[in-house]
Amino acid sequence: MDKTRSLAKRYQRIHAQLAELFLKTKNKTSRLASIAALLHHKMPHFFWTGFYLLSEGELVVGPYQGSLACPVLEKHKGVCWAGILRRQPVIVPDVHQFPGHIACDSRSNSEIVIPLFDEKGEVWGVLDVDSRAFDAFTEIDREWLEKIVALI
Ligand code: SME
Repeated sequence: MDKTRSLAKRYQRIHAQLAELFLKTKNKTSRLASIAALLHHKMPHFFWTGFYLLSEGELVVGPYQGSLACPVLEKHKGVCWAGILRRQPVIVPDVHQFPGHIACDSRSNSEIVIPLFDEKGEVWGVLDVDSRAFDAFTEIDREWLEKIVALI
C-alpha cells in the first residue's frame, strides 16, 4: 500500500475510534484530550499535538501531548494566530521561514493548524500539530484533521 493510502487508513481508524468515544460524553475538555492523546500516540510524525483556545481575546493552551508548551501565545503572532485570523487551516513546511513563528520547542520544524468552529461559525480555537521533520504535513493531514475536529 502506498504511503498516502496507509496514512488515510490510519486517520480513518482514529476518526472511527473518536466517534465511538464521543458517544460517552459531550464534554469538550474530555473530547479535546482524547483527540490529542490518540493522534499523538498513533501518528509517528506528530511531535507536539494539542489545542490553543480563545479565552478573553487570548490564545491559551488547552489539552495537549508532548513537551511543555507556551501557556499563552503573543497576540496576532505566529501560526496558531494565523489560523484564527484567516479562519483557515495553515500548513507550514518550514516554521523557521514563517514570519512571527512562536517556537515553544526549538526541535519543531514544520506545523499544521486547523481552526475550530462552533455551531454559529465562530472560531473558538485551533488544533495545532508540530513535527520534528520538515514538510511533514500534506493535504491528507489537513483533510482528516478537519474531519476529526468536526466531531467535537
Ligand atoms: N508554533 C506555534 C506556537 C505553539 S507551539 O507550536 C506548541 C505558533 O507559532 O503559533
